[in-house]
Amino acid sequence: MRLIQNMSTIAEYSGSDCPAGKVIKIAVIGDSGVGKTALVVRFLTKRFIGDYERNAGSLYSRQVQLDGEQVAIQVQDTPGVQINGHNLNCNEQVNRSIQWADAVVLVYSITDYKSFEIISHLHQQVRRTHADRVPVVIVANKADLLHIKQVEPQHGLKLANMLRCTFYEVSASENYNDVYNAFHLLCKEIAKQHQVTSNTEKRRSSIIPRPKSPNMQDLKRRFKQALSAKVRTVTSV
Ligand code: GTP
Repeated sequence: MRLIQNMSTIAEYSGSDCPAGKVIKIAVIGDSGVGKTALVVRFLTKRFIGDYERNAGSLYSRQVQLDGEQVAIQVQDTPGVQINGHNLNCNEQVNRSIQWADAVVLVYSITDYKSFEIISHLHQQVRRTHADRVPVVIVANKADLLHIKQVEPQHGLKLANMLRCTFYEVSASENYNDVYNAFHLLCKEIAKQHQVTSNTEKRRSSIIPRPKSPNMQDLKRRFKQALSAKVRTVTSV
């Protein structure tokens, strides 16, 4: 995507020099044209450009300080999903992004009721993949376009409560702080989850004794024994 080249402030970064627990992976999913790219770019660069190429699925990365710790945030922007009747048409890339992510941001536009209806289908898809393991946030975008609004904030909030997700109504074009808050709080939640997981793993590894490394001499001896027994069996036949 050309934007990556234009925007030098977004560092393409693999996160390889950050410990595994210090990489935060977020997938941004929703209907086409709801402002997924605009939100990601706004969060990572503070800027709203207004004209974004149709998204084919770009991964953006950036290192930030989160509660005094250096973490790599990776945000996967995804192609717009479609719905055929009652069936969700998620392409392979969207499914892979859901599997890959530590958290998912579901986006709809307040100016497009259809994009709102897709959210519950997308949520089901995420839960089928991850059960309750990943946090899901619902973001209603384009809050500045009140004159062509099709979805009331209370509908978004009701849906989010029903699906047990956090809800934000934002405008990528008008308000950086709201967009920043939505992503930032999500990053903090994931970082906390990573911390809990790593503490549990540490505790577990200190309780379970490590298996002793095998005695190579003993292994060789047993291997020879097994081999000669086989040879004996073959010769006796
Ligand atoms: P696909 O790449 O087709 O999946 O679209 P997308 O969901 O990534 O949407 P994108 O970020 O490309 O934005 C679509 C259009 O909506 C662009 O013209 C943006 O400028 C515009 N847009 C995005 N966010 C806002 C917003 O908060 N307010 C207004 N007024 N326009 C917005």
